[in-house]
Amino acid sequence: MAPTRRLTGFKPTGHLHLGNLLGALRPLIAAQDRSESIALIADLHALTMDHEPARVRALALEQATVMLAAGVDPERTPIVLQSHVTEHTELHYLLECATGFGEASRMIQFKEKSAADGPIRLSLLTYPVLMAADILLYDTDEVPVGEDQNQHLELTRTIAQRFNGRYGETFRLPGGVRPGSAARVMDLADPGTKMGKSNASGAGRIGLLDPPETVRRTVARAVTDEFAQVRRHPDQPGVTNLIDILAGCSGREPADPVSYGALKREVADAIEALLEPIRARYAELADDPAHVREILARGAARVRPIAAATVRRTRAAIGLLD
Ligand code: TRP
Repeated sequence: MAPTRRLTGFKPTGHLHLGNLLGALRPLIAAQDRSESIALIADLHALTMDHEPARVRALALEQATVMLAAGVDPERTPIVLQSHVTEHTELHYLLECATGFGEASRMIQFKEKSAADGPIRLSLLTYPVLMAADILLYDTDEVPVGEDQNQHLELTRTIAQRFNGRYGETFRLPGGVRPGSAARVMDLADPGTKMGKSNASGAGRIGLLDPPETVRRTVARAVTDEFAQVRRHPDQPGVTNLIDILAGCSGREPADPVSYGALKREVADAIEALLEPIRARYAELADDPAHVREILARGAARVRPIAAATVRRTRAAIGLLD
């Protein structure tokens, strides 16, 4: 049986953080032995909202470098910059011809993001179709997705099924894999929301490249509560998050009994133990960006034949002359 193909996507709109490491990068690294993984840096997706060209470029390179520093092995897991494989955009267009305007405009994320003030890019509306192209392009079996991307994965399946039904078997249907709850890292300053790349203040985010003193300060300032009890409890989201982070980083439960101050020191130590080697490796790799770019070029070259075959099949099925 062919190995399971797994596609993990990252959007270069911010610095990778602890939530990305525990929720996406570590599972990706763990899956390297048993599946054929692709790590996709979705730079085209970073153009759907107001963006700074130099920042998108810098973040794309930084994310690739962080992935390598964290242990992604490019020999087993191609690291692919979406814009390097032009088949993404070609399949995107072909899939747009199999997607309803209503379907796209009903996406919750589109509705939320387009409700903000200011001009809305057309690509924000069609972004889930580009994501469908990312997934279907590589005959993907598994896509690790958080809650927020679930609807986009469902749309991907809908489009694929419709296309297969109307034009003949062309796409493999992908399934989602959900990271465990321990992999869900909440914002330290606002434990009701997930730690995100672009949360407003960044006060509750642990960047993977943050210096040690910043990590300690962020943990020390983490929101707790008045209960003075170190336990997982729905009324104590901040403390629950700290306990989960400790478990996620070190596999340990807090020493018992501890004060919130002691818990925070333990959490900061556990995070630091995890980040210190990544930071060191990053510094080495970042010294030689040409090497990282070479790895990206090789990643694209590795997956391009799969992408080209899918596009060929799709073109033929939908009615284009070869
Ligand atoms: N849309 C995803 C996000 O915002 C990133 C992404 C782009 C992705 N293409 C993908 C995720 C393909 C999984 C598969 O986080």
